[in-house]
Amino acid sequence: MRLHRSFYATLFALFLLLCQTSAMDSAQLTPSAAELHPLVRRATMSPLPNGIEVQAGDLLLKVAALREDVLRITMARGKSLPEDASWAVLADARRSSVPVVIDTGGDQFGFRTHALIVAVDKKTLELTVRDLAGNVLEQDVRPVRFDSDAFRMYKSMPLDEHYFGLGDKTGPLDRRNEAFTLWNTDAYRFQESTDPIYKSIPYFMTYRAGRAVGILLDNTWRTSFDFGKESAGIYSFGAAAGPLDYYLFYGPSPKQVVETYAWLTGTPPLLPLWSLGFQQSRYSYMSQARVLEVAGRLRADSIPADAIYLDIDYQDKNRPFTVDRAAFPDLPGMIAKLKADNFHVVAITDLHIANLPGHDYFPYDSGVAGDQFVKNPDGTVYTGKVWPGPSVFPDFTRQQTRAWWGSLYRDLRHIGIDGFWNDMNEPSIFDSATFTMPENVVHRIDEPGFATRTATHAEIHDLYGMENSRATFEGLRTLDPESRPFVLTRATFAGGQRYAATWTGDNSSSWNHLRLATPMLENLGLSGFAFVGADVGGYAGTPTPELLTKWLEVAAFQPIERDHTEKGSGD
Ligand code: NOJ
Repeated sequence: MRLHRSFYATLFALFLLLCQTSAMDSAQLTPSAAELHPLVRRATMSPLPNGIEVQAGDLLLKVAALREDVLRITMARGKSLPEDASWAVLADARRSSVPVVIDTGGDQFGFRTHALIVAVDKKTLELTVRDLAGNVLEQDVRPVRFDSDAFRMYKSMPLDEHYFGLGDKTGPLDRRNEAFTLWNTDAYRFQESTDPIYKSIPYFMTYRAGRAVGILLDNTWRTSFDFGKESAGIYSFGAAAGPLDYYLFYGPSPKQVVETYAWLTGTPPLLPLWSLGFQQSRYSYMSQARVLEVAGRLRADSIPADAIYLDIDYQDKNRPFTVDRAAFPDLPGMIAKLKADNFHVVAITDLHIANLPGHDYFPYDSGVAGDQFVKNPDGTVYTGKVWPGPSVFPDFTRQQTRAWWGSLYRDLRHIGIDGFWNDMNEPSIFDSATFTMPENVVHRIDEPGFATRTATHAEIHDLYGMENSRATFEGLRTLDPESRPFVLTRATFAGGQRYAATWTGDNSSSWNHLRLATPMLENLGLSGFAFVGADVGGYAGTPTPELLTKWLEVAAFQPIERDHTEKGSGD
């Protein structure tokens, strides 16, 4: 009896708590007068063949249908929309268009396609998207909030809706109740709560009652996503600056959403067959003799393996595109021997070029001659310390720089190296307080489809790793048009699947990390990256034989199975 009473008392307390929370939430949901001002009062709508454009005060909103099931939503302060250029979304997709039926009345402007009903509130510019049966697929619960250059959107978060994507962010498969920042970060020994980590893929999928919707925020600045962590009942996303430009696409199946995401951002290239096999790696095999010994042992023990990796120690003093001739006296001979035994070699080529004037170091000399490196605001070349010591950094948002970078692979490709590994490309910088470039470092955008201009590192940071892997991929294709490049990158952005496979970075040798690898890889898959892996056995530390055995078994079912570990751990 007493038990019952305390049970009901607890229930009642919970009920009171819930009432309070929902009262708080509805207070938060009501936009303040300040937020509404200078919105509407006198909003004007211009119908477009494929959507609508609404001008309200100093806000301009455009909602356009690219396909029956794909909308592009752009909003700007002022009278013109941002430049229609994108690193993530393919030009053909961005230029697609279908006719719509304008459907305006009462408090709303809107239109219909053959799959979606779009409504924009005349007073607040809040957007609601429904399917043809009237089910709400996505709904603003507050007007867009602008704060200096930053903006944020707030969407209704039904109790039974689930969230996936954002690449390999840690935590559970479902992003619900979690919040994430997208800012590419070298996260050695990341743990389950570490955020941000290596990649920025500003795309997620919502799923509720059998209906999946994709949302891609096409913005390269620091972005953030909150799935009900801050306020129950609301998910939100926004950026520190840059364009408010996002795509909303309807399934209803998750598979259709992933397909449409690939329609927007591209598909991965066909892989070389060998890359599907088991890959053997460590930081580092310190000599040519050791590489041959490990390969020989794999064959002797009948352990199937198709690739063996050369981490940074095959290079002279960690300088990219050099070879340590003492430890690797005959690299071409070693590669030929491995090839004869059906091994393919993957070599690391980090993006930091040693700052070595007057040393006959070709990557540096040719880079300076072609003005290929990013600059400080005063126009001098930016230097930061990484593995080779003081280093300079290619300006990958210039097509000329990417072409130059790609040409650096000629010799390594010529001696038969089949795959290339782009690491440290967040970019990781050891002697900087933020472990990356200062945000005022100057990049140049010189790219078909974009206005030619400079951009600060704050704008380019999250994109930098993707453009590094793009330069590698395109370079390899130019050098050898008949072969399928294999590029493995650590940092990347939405659309990076067009150029490279990826892995989850420096995980740990623990059972928890074995478990964590699965949702990380699944969310990468849902984010367009089909060819992905996590270091088998864990990077930091030495796995027990039992953990390594289980990890090898589990990874046999993951796209990339690569055994890799850090310096100083067990083989
Ligand atoms: C960091 C990478 O994440 C790791 O895989 C690699 O072994 C080291 N850099 C050394 O290149």
